[in-house]
Amino acid sequence: AAKVAHGAGTWEFTPVAPNTDDQVIVPEGFKANVVIAWGDPVVKDAPTFDVNNQTPGAAEKQFGYNADYVGVLPHPDKEDRALLVTNHEYTDEPLMFPTGAYDDITIKQVAMASHGMSVVEIKRGRTLGSWKRVKPRDTTLNRRIHTGTKFELDGPAAGHDRLKTKADSTGTVVYGTLNNCAGGLTPWGTVLSGEENFNQYFDTSAPLDTRYLDSYKRYGITGTGTRGWKDVASRFDLAREPHEPFRFGWIVEIDPYDPRSTPRKHTMLGRFKHEGANCTLADNGQVVVYMGDDERGDYIYKFVSAGTFDASGTEQARQKNLELLTAGTLFVGKFTGDGAGDGVHDGSGAWIPLTSDTTSYVEGMSVADVLIDTRLAADKVGPTRMDRPEDVEVNPVNGKVYAALTNNSDRGRKWPADEANPVTSSLVRSEPGGPLVAATGNRNGYVLEISPTGGDHLAETFSWDLMLVCGDPADPVTYFAGYPKQLVSPISCPDNLAFDAVGNLWISTDGAVLGSHDGLFRVPVEGPNRGKVQQFLTVPVGAETCGPFITEDQNSVFIAPQHPGETDDATFEAPSSTWPHTDSFPRPGVVVVYKKK
Ligand code: FEO
Ligand code: CA
Ligand code: CA
Ligand code: CA
Repeated sequence: AAKVAHGAGTWEFTPVAPNTDDQVIVPEGFKANVVIAWGDPVVKDAPTFDVNNQTPGAAEKQFGYNADYVGVLPHPDKEDRALLVTNHEYTDEPLMFPTGAYDDITIKQVAMASHGMSVVEIKRGRTLGSWKRVKPRDTTLNRRIHTGTKFELDGPAAGHDRLKTKADSTGTVVYGTLNNCAGGLTPWGTVLSGEENFNQYFDTSAPLDTRYLDSYKRYGITGTGTRGWKDVASRFDLAREPHEPFRFGWIVEIDPYDPRSTPRKHTMLGRFKHEGANCTLADNGQVVVYMGDDERGDYIYKFVSAGTFDASGTEQARQKNLELLTAGTLFVGKFTGDGAGDGVHDGSGAWIPLTSDTTSYVEGMSVADVLIDTRLAADKVGPTRMDRPEDVEVNPVNGKVYAALTNNSDRGRKWPADEANPVTSSLVRSEPGGPLVAATGNRNGYVLEISPTGGDHLAETFSWDLMLVCGDPADPVTYFAGYPKQLVSPISCPDNLAFDAVGNLWISTDGAVLGSHDGLFRVPVEGPNRGKVQQFLTVPVGAETCGPFITEDQNSVFIAPQHPGETDDATFEAPSSTWPHTDSFPRPGVVVVYKKK
């Protein structure tokens, strides 16, 4: 891969300046095109999107709302085509429905149907690096996964009593996947996606089931979920179905090459507010998956498979590979500092085992207990409370692991600082060129670099350093791996990560507090330019930058501007963004960026 001498890793560009335009702003010489947006048809008989005539049946066939993860996989037999796989994390009802045009029940049903995932066949455009979607009637691979799609729970906790409901006495069948955030590709050609803030879908007017109070509390299941879905599906009512929340919060795996396959939820990878999951292979073929739990003060996890990847490419091998995430060992990360005397935030660390598929290492908890209440299990073994672990991903060129720690306004108050989480006061600004003002906690985030001992992802120890302490370079706490600060772009709130073939890290941001819109940045991690953060694009008003994904040929950078127009008090009639400017309201979607001819 390091031999690729062209494309994203070597693109020269003038960094995009901080701005608040309602556009995807790319550097001079590049172009950004919308590939697909909310409401566009995905499956064959999808009706044309009509914002005034939305139905749940139509939404289940159209591109859903708020894509976060973006993956592009090779087409099974056509060179000029590919499969775009995205998820649909959540909905922004005030921006989706004209005021008064729909009753409350329809709004909830359409919102529910707009969650899930999409598989969309795309084809190359005329300019190298450009892509457009294929019409649904010209493909047999498109698929829309929604809240009515059947998933199978697998792994050691599948079938446990706590995963059984009135509708599913087996504890193995769940309908839908919710709040899917980041994700990753597997070496066997499937997609992993993390169920993140699933707690918000469950509520009740009755008291909570007293058997599960500790668990509910640790996962933010308070009985006052904000979506009100219990009005349209009784399984979201905690009084009627106290176990349904245990069936969400997993890593799901979908096979985009088989539209009829049953997607899975892997209990072996633990249950928490999964940001995403990224795989690498150890030298012996064991699969190692890195994962973040995106909550203030939560943890970074690692899974090591029991079995090994079969690269022979046969159908039998593929079937075997599809079982790799059902057995192995789940670990949680502890980060110890070596002291501030050396002037850098760094130290050593250990992966603490929580459970294998057969043996629990946490006192008083069974294997299933550890997997269903992973947060409670981890709390008992002393891992490090991090500042919202987002994407955790292995750099395919240098083999190190990079984790985005997006922010934590409570650091220094609820949680004391440590060497891996050192910032307790930050400088922020509210508009480009405005003054920097002090704010409590860690507001701008970090990029953490983990070096497995001996370069071996099976090793249970590692060294680590904060490669980036994000913020405005004028903020004295910031650190850009020692690169001259006057030469970098300000960066705030790293979220999703990707790598190009040269090994540069690409960082998308969510919730930046430096007066500019969120964006996408490129930064080398090796050589004389290590730490040279350059802004590659910015996203529209109110949006975060999701994706990113760089195609294997290095000619295309995909992003998903998520939740354009999500600002205080914005409504359908008075939106703060109308991106992508095809309508009078915003339509979140997927964008491809490429070099102009
Ligand atoms: Fe959905 Fe952690 O971002
Ligand atoms: Ca140190
Ligand atoms: Ca994310
Ligand atoms: Ca995010």
